Amino acid sequence: MKGELLYEGKAKRMYSIPGRDDVIWVEYKDSLTAFNAQKKSSFGGKGAINAQITSLLYRKLTSFGIPTHFVEDISQHEMICSKVTIIPLEVVTRNRLAGSTAKKLGKEEGSPLKAPLVEFYYKDDALGDPFLSDDQALMMGAVATKAELDELRASALRINKVLQEIFLTAGLELIDFKLEFGRDGRGTLLLADEISPDTCRLWDRKTGEKMDKDRFRRDLGKVEESYQEVLQRLKGAAV
Ligand code: TMP
Ligand code: ASP
Repeated sequence: MKGELLYEGKAKRMYSIPGRDDVIWVEYKDSLTAFNAQKKSSFGGKGAINAQITSLLYRKLTSFGIPTHFVEDISQHEMICSKVTIIPLEVVTRNRLAGSTAKKLGKEEGSPLKAPLVEFYYKDDALGDPFLSDDQALMMGAVATKAELDELRASALRINKVLQEIFLTAGLELIDFKLEFGRDGRGTLLLADEISPDTCRLWDRKTGEKMDKDRFRRDLGKVEESYQEVLQRLKGAAV
């Protein structure tokens, strides 16, 4: 049973579950935002698409021994997840340079990298989620120790390998993506939040066409069609 609203973010609402303090009810919204919600839109069924993509990917990650907060699906746009304390870092992994880092370093969008790059951004909308060095992350108290940053980096790289494989089977190249982690009541590190076209750059493996939120950010059109296509391809892939 869905209890009181605990938190409403840009893309999801979290509700308590009466009588349970270890899990929450997560509802995916149809809203679409970019640039820290300066640009807003929505389309019917968007929440259901992202929830189904997340559910499919988190099940797959679980089967590879990667602990996630996903517990079970409730409907196409709702799921039960473990209650975690979110680590206030956005952990971005890049397989090619695109988006903000490509721009910052004057590199062409899609420049290949010799090895995946992991970056930490501070989860703070008022500050615009700034990039943090390891020392800055420690100074801000985002984590307590350098070892935790290393654990996050190692986990992101492991998740990257599994995700790259899944997306390739679906004819998509994983250019980059953002993860969030949290700790449950026992202190176990769990992959939290979502993995969807909102949080990844996905390019068609053959044509290079963008199939993710950049279609909305950059007014490329066919936003809804691309999100739907990613879901259908993942469902159809032998994953
Ligand atoms: P960036 O190139 O803008 O730094 O984005 C890197 C990746 O992180 C990209 O796949 C989109 C994702 N992302 C989020 O999920 N949320 C955000 O707030 C931002 C800025 C990026
Ligand atoms: N996630 C952020 C927002 O919703 C920024 C982005 O994805 O571009 O505003």
